[in-house]
Formats: sequence, structure tokens, C-alpha cells
Amino acid sequence: MRIAASIIAGAVGAIIVGAPIALAAGPDDARAAFDHRVDAMKQMGHALYVTIGKVVRGKAELGPDTAAAAETIVTLSATIPTLFPPGSNVGDSRVKPEIFAAGPRVQELAAGVREAAGGLVAAAKSGDLAALAAAYKAQDDACEACHRDFRKPEQ
Ligand code: HEC
Repeated sequence: MRIAASIIAGAVGAIIVGAPIALAAGPDDARAAFDHRVDAMKQMGHALYVTIGKVVRGKAELGPDTAAAAETIVTLSATIPTLFPPGSNVGDSRVKPEIFAAGPRVQELAAGVREAAGGLVAAAKSGDLAALAAAYKAQDDACEACHRDFRKPEQ
């Protein structure tokens, strides 16, 4: 039983690990990977620049949705390393293809985003606006570290 379970667990693990590469195997898969990436980025962008940004700019009250938005970034940041399967630079994608061969650097950048998001959650829960503004800046820097290196400028 134990052996069977570990074989199954191993197989599941291999499927998950293999997924990003397999995803971009064909044109439809590459398109799906691109769409999925943009969707995840938009969700993080909305949470940071809109929901939390409004609070930082004094346009909204700091409340439970501020912390919830920060939690969204924590959750999605864990998926960042899976968002760049080779070949997913389709259509009007702004991804620089160099990212496809930059696995360890992407892991590092994703970890930076996740760590900053943890700080954002803590600041949002503390109710301290100055702490939130500092955490917002740290989060923005962590996101931009990747955009600077791996996102093409807008055409
Ligand atoms: C590991 C690299 C990386 C990290 C980390 C990262 N991004 Fe991105 N992001 C990209 C790339 C590359 C694109 C362009 C994607 C494309 O066009 O295919 C992008 C695109 C975007 C977009 C534009 C989506 C659209 O409408 O086309 C937003 C918004 C965005 N990112 C927000 C964020 C936020 C907020 C964070 C941090 C919480 C973040 N990103 C972290 C690489 C990253």
C-alpha cells in the first residue's frame, strides 16, 4: 500500500512539475499559458495597484478587503514559477524569451514577491497606514524587479 501510494504521489508530482513544459507543447497550449499568465498578473495587479493602492493614496479606507487583496498576492505569487512555459511568448505577449531559461532567477523573484506580500498582509492587518505605504513600496519594487528584466516595454 505504502509503495503504491508513493508511486501515485510521485506520478502526480511529475505531472505537476512537468505541466508548464507540456502546456506550451502546441499553439493552443501556448496561447492558454499566455492567457493564464496575463490573468494571474492582472489579478495581482488589481489587488496591488487598485485595492491596496487606493488605500495608500487615501482614496479608500483600510479594511478587511485590504488584507484580503494582500492574501491574494501571497497565494498567486506561489504560482509565478509555473507561469512562463517556453513558447508562451505568443501574439502580443510582452514576455522576454530569456525568462524561459531563467528558472532559478524566476524562483528567486517569485520568492521576493511572496515575502513582500507577507509584509503587506501584516501591514494591512496592523491598520497602520504608514506601515502599509512602506509595504506597498516594497511590494511594487519586488514586482518591478522582474518586469524590468523580463517584460518588454509597451509598444
Ligand atoms: C518572474 C517575473 C514576474 C514577476 C515576479 C511579476 N511579473 Fe507581472 N509580468 C511579468 C511579465 C513577463 C509580464 C508580461 C506578460 C506577457 O505579456 O506575456 C507581466 C505582466 C504584468 C501585468 C500586465 C498584464 C496585462 O494586462 O497584460 C501586470 C498588471 C503585472 N504583471 C502585475 C504584476 C504584479 C502586481 C506583480 C507582483 C505582485 C508581478 N506582476 C510580478 C513578469 C512578472
